Amino acid sequence: MAQDSSKADFWDVRYQNKVTPWDSEGLPEGFEVQAQALLQASPSLRVLIPGCGTAYELAWLQQQGADAVAFDFSAQAVARARQAFPALADRILEADFFGTAVDGQWGWVYERAFLCALPPKLAVAYAERMARLVAPGGVLAGYFFLRTQAKGPPFGMSLEALQQILAPYFMLQKQLPLSHSLPVFAPDEYWLQWQRRV
Ligand SMILES: C[S@@+](CC[C@H](N)C(=O)[O-])C[C@H]1O[C@@H](n2cnc3c(N)ncnc32)[C@H](O)[C@@H]1O
Repeated sequence: MAQDSSKADFWDVRYQNKVTPWDSEGLPEGFEVQAQALLQASPSLRVLIPGCGTAYELAWLQQQGADAVAFDFSAQAVARARQAFPALADRILEADFFGTAVDGQWGWVYERAFLCALPPKLAVAYAERMARLVAPGGVLAGYFFLRTQAKGPPFGMSLEALQQILAPYFMLQKQLPLSHSLPVFAPDEYWLQWQRRV
């Protein structure tokens, strides 16, 4: 199997072979509560979901009337998400997070199992790209894997290390531990909400 998780074929092979231990097979724990709070605070929030995988969250956001777009650079992931949610096919794009096909400024960029999918050498580039994508005052919010784990994916880092890369652009607003993470992430998965500095 492909071994470089910065390449789409690494993920294509795993989706093809149905080796997807990160897939929550539905909404992750606590998603509705946190998302509802964000949508209530900003009803016209535009939401971007990078590295979306099966994109369960997109369907829920769409049901709430939110303007949301999901994307992934794995053609297999995109096919899987479009098969799961055919009515949303035009909102599920094949694109690279580090490219410019998906751009603009978003009120909420959602994170789940995406940063930890990237080799650690891309962590700073992740922070810089997120800083471009999240509108001033907007949020980068979702699930982060806070374990010092250099071998992956999932690659993990401590909250302190994450603070170091995000602090130039974001302030941490919320930190909640999860109680029912998937085995691959337990017990080190947290809901974190970072506000983009204005
Ligand atoms: C561990 S999976 C998580 C998928 C999804 N977020 C979830 O929670 O089920 C990581 C996903 O990120 C995607 N990915 C990795 N690097 C990417 C990049 N540079 N641009 C877009 N997607 C990327 C992979 O194809 C894969 O679907």
